[in-house]
Amino acid sequence: MSSMHVHVTGIGSYLPERTLTNADLEKIVDTTDSWIHERTGIRERHIIAEDQMTSDMAVEAARIALDDAGIGIDDIDALIVSTTTPDMVFPATATIVQAKLGGKDFPAWDTQAVCSGFVYGLAHADGMMRAGMFKRVLLIGAEAMSRIVNWKDRGTCVLFGDGAGAVVLEAREEEGGVLGSVLHADGSYRDLLKAHHPHPGASPDAVDFSIDAAGVAAVEMKGNEVFRVAVTKLGEVVGEILAHCHIDEDQIDWLVPHQANIRIIQATAKKLGMDMKRVSTTVRDHGNTSSASIPLALDALYREGKLQSGQHILLEAFAGGFAWGANILRWSK
Ligand code: UT7
Repeated sequence: MSSMHVHVTGIGSYLPERTLTNADLEKIVDTTDSWIHERTGIRERHIIAEDQMTSDMAVEAARIALDDAGIGIDDIDALIVSTTTPDMVFPATATIVQAKLGGKDFPAWDTQAVCSGFVYGLAHADGMMRAGMFKRVLLIGAEAMSRIVNWKDRGTCVLFGDGAGAVVLEAREEEGGVLGSVLHADGSYRDLLKAHHPHPGASPDAVDFSIDAAGVAAVEMKGNEVFRVAVTKLGEVVGEILAHCHIDEDQIDWLVPHQANIRIIQATAKKLGMDMKRVSTTVRDHGNTSSASIPLALDALYREGKLQSGQHILLEAFAGGFAWGANILRWSK
């Protein structure tokens, strides 16, 4: 493998203005603020505006990340959007984002590993960049989950939210950045967490995307079964990524987990022997934003000034499929 290392040089995120609190949900389904908060840690989530699409949120996050890196879209060699809620069946949302950002010619494509999309996307980008294909990649996780949940199913609709997070990645000779990734999938679990077509790829004119329109592409989940496997597999994968990167538990400064449920996050932190003060948790205010949740949670740490150069950050996610994985970064910004 080449001597190049893939560093995060810019980061940004975006949350739609509208929020939906647990109290608001009490008016939609048979639930309570205390049930949602106790079982998941969620208090509110952001909901995309009627005239916005996934690509619009991705563009907002990308602009901030590009500014943060001090570069423009013309400096980018490839654009990857991780999304479960593409604007259309095709073209890839990444090409729509490219056009909205005024970019041309460089490759742009989507990656789909549901809530693990950012972890998968970072692994793709890292491998391709270290192989010398690209110097600078814009990687975005963007999700309009509110458009695919069944607003009549209290078991799932209380869990999800919308948003986007983006990173600019740059291949450099200096050591650090992405130290490694491990990815897994086991499709024998596919029926435990899924959403059928039609999805938001259908024309906006043909489908009512409003919050009151149940069943557009309803997410279906056997929550407690997903929970059990998630805790087990995440416990395994954090051990695996540490061994893969030759890093000890006590060298991890920050855990930036996918934000599905505070109880799953706590279980993984416990497995790593980490105090919750060293864990980025945004699930309270964002809910589960699928593949946007890790870049959103990483950006929250960055904006709070908590990330120091040289610190080790462990990213991990578990998703429908099931698909799961982890990466370790040595922060170098
Ligand atoms: O991001 C991808 C990965 N996704 C996940 O990792 C999600 C994993 N699953 C979970 O986070 C949890 O399983 C949930 C939060 C979805 C559910 O929590 P739980 O403790 O596993 O509850 P449960 O599904 O076993 O349901 C317990 C009870 C049921 O009632 P009965 O049968 O005991 O009478 C449900 O009908 O809670 C009921 N319930 C609710 N009650 C009030 C389910 N949803 C609600 C609700 N409000 N929103």
